[in-house]
Amino acid sequence: MALRTILEFPDPRLRIRAQPVERFDRELGELVEDMFDTMYAARGIGLAATQIDVHRRVIVADLSEDGSGRLVLVNPVILAREGRQRCEEGCLSVPEIRAEVERAERIRLRAQDAEGETFEMEAEGLLAVCIQHEMDHLEGRLFVDYLSPLKREMLRKRLAKQRRLEERDAAQTR
Ligand code: NI
Repeated sequence: MALRTILEFPDPRLRIRAQPVERFDRELGELVEDMFDTMYAARGIGLAATQIDVHRRVIVADLSEDGSGRLVLVNPVILAREGRQRCEEGCLSVPEIRAEVERAERIRLRAQDAEGETFEMEAEGLLAVCIQHEMDHLEGRLFVDYLSPLKREMLRKRLAKQRRLEERDAAQTR
């Protein structure tokens, strides 16, 4: 088990567009396992490789409470979108912040699993939100990009302040 460091907004590495996975080897298997470990440890429901500074098109998700709903999406492509829904989203790369984002209600997608097997699936509701959110990460997009520039700037300042306080606390306990 290996936990990876999750990049946090406004880290510029979160803006890098991920490249397709071409080799389905042991290294990819280890990446997927590390991503699950990191996501579960941070209590998230989805994680894109971009968030741990690996710029490959890999997503993991699990909406279950007990680790029984593991989903791996390699090189995912959305084939169809239907309907609209607004949902309050959070992101492990933007801690403490939640905001409403509008997304498709239902999606149909094609992806590969960790062994390279191609499959298609449909998702709706929260799973559809989660997949669209994680696929945005692969494009270097964050959910805060959907907010107004003013709100995003307030958010950036709040996070910078939060980080300064954390650093001060850490310095005091040394
Ligand atoms: Ni996220």
